[in-house]
Amino acid sequence: MPGAAEDLTALTTLRLPAKAAARRDVTDLPALREALADARAAGLPVIVLGEGSNVVFAGDVDALVLRYTATGREVIAEDDASVTLRVAAGEHWHTLVCWCLEQGYHGLENLALIPGTVGAAPIQNIGAYGVELAPFVEAVHAVRIADGETLTLSRAECAFAYRDSIFKGALRDAVVITAVDFRLPRAHVPVTDYPSLREALAGQAAPPEPRDVFDAVVALRRARLPDPATTPNAGSFFKNPVVDAATAEALARRYPGMPQFAAPGGRKLAAGWLIEQCGWRGAEGEGVAVHPGHALVLVSRGGDGRALLALAQRIQDSVAETFGCRLEIEPRVYGAAA
Ligand code: EPU
Repeated sequence: MPGAAEDLTALTTLRLPAKAAARRDVTDLPALREALADARAAGLPVIVLGEGSNVVFAGDVDALVLRYTATGREVIAEDDASVTLRVAAGEHWHTLVCWCLEQGYHGLENLALIPGTVGAAPIQNIGAYGVELAPFVEAVHAVRIADGETLTLSRAECAFAYRDSIFKGALRDAVVITAVDFRLPRAHVPVTDYPSLREALAGQAAPPEPRDVFDAVVALRRARLPDPATTPNAGSFFKNPVVDAATAEALARRYPGMPQFAAPGGRKLAAGWLIEQCGWRGAEGEGVAVHPGHALVLVSRGGDGRALLALAQRIQDSVAETFGCRLEIEPRVYGAAA
């Protein structure tokens, strides 16, 4: 791309080599509006990054890559039952989870150690170990890229679903999230149904304390998922596919060991299991690989976005051929040839 100047490699946890026409970090709303106005004047689309932990650059982008790095958290309402926090988009997610645990604000323990920023969390409705972000979100504050106007979306308006929201649909690449309001209960209601978490907590005092759940989740993630700081990756590369009940039953009869989970609209299959069954776990080539410890995670070993997406395509084809269901890529992909 002529004029591409800014190196993006260090801006994503996959560390894929790519360049952008321009990039800017802004720490407050006036600077954000100014950057958006400059992008409009230059005719550049805007790509918003947080910590880049759910983004794939498949190639160079003719865009302004923008990070809104404002930090800060404040209690904006509280009563005996709950507290409502307003947290700036640039806060590190796991730091917020730790702080809430210390303050006695509960609910986020299962979401410990998820990489990324608070502003990115609503986009894919982060979720882990039986808990999703959505029920804790009161509102999402954002600035519209097209005109710099502020808007506030209620939880309902965010259209949250499994690894999905309006920010991946109608508002994709249309807003910069600037802050998120969370309402957290003071009472701890442990969610420990997820099989691996239940096993990890077996033998401990029941019901578990918030700290026990937090510690168990941190230990599970450290044991299974590669640390992006040392092994470039973007977490789960595919969504777990949801199939209708009849298809799920037929698959369970044919593959008795197949993990399945309850889900709206049918049953959720474990994409990691499907990929492993197709023989991909640990597969490597062209500087990209399927993580040997968890087949749902693709890692980069010096390869580029094109190689990574080619590997993803081969995995999708092979799972579709074997199990009859198509895996959907979870991270946001930019710079790909259409
Ligand atoms: N499995 C395999 N082989 C593998 C990987 C998994 O057989 O290589 C099996 C496991 O044994 C288990 C089942 O698949 O029976 C599910 O595995 P796991 O508990 O590791 O969870 P997952 O469905 O693979 C999802 C999320 C993760 C989240 C975990 C824990 C998605 C796309 N991924 O993974 O989220 O941490 O559950 O709740 O929903 C992420 O989104 O980046 C992410 C890491």
